[in-house]
Amino acid sequence: MYNEKVMEYFTNPRNVGEIEDADGIAEVGSPQCGDIMKVYIKVEDNIIKDIKFQTFGCASAIASSSMMTEMVKGKTLDEALKLTNREVVDALGGLPPAKIHCSVMAEDAIRAAIKDYMEKNK
Ligand code: FES
Repeated sequence: MYNEKVMEYFTNPRNVGEIEDADGIAEVGSPQCGDIMKVYIKVEDNIIKDIKFQTFGCASAIASSSMMTEMVKGKTLDEALKLTNREVVDALGGLPPAKIHCSVMAEDAIRAAIKDYMEKNK
């Protein structure tokens, strides 16, 4: 069902955990399945210096969150805001059609964490 890359990111996820003094935090859920993803970011000079995630979801959700964290780490907030779930899916080499919604959580979560940071630092 899953390609090798997805399996690799699922079984060996990058950036799992939490950041205690995070600058931005968000928790998003998938309306399709009720699964949840939490993202923590550390921001310095408008750049995502560190990011960690916790996902209570399926293999696609974990692989997508893990890939998303790698894709936005070191990026500016503006660049990270432009990341789409399609880019995450492409970077994973594709997901089964029924599992595309799982990757949407990764996009929603990073956007919400940046929004949280921006609201706290107006
Ligand atoms: Fe819920 Fe994949 S089935 S995130």
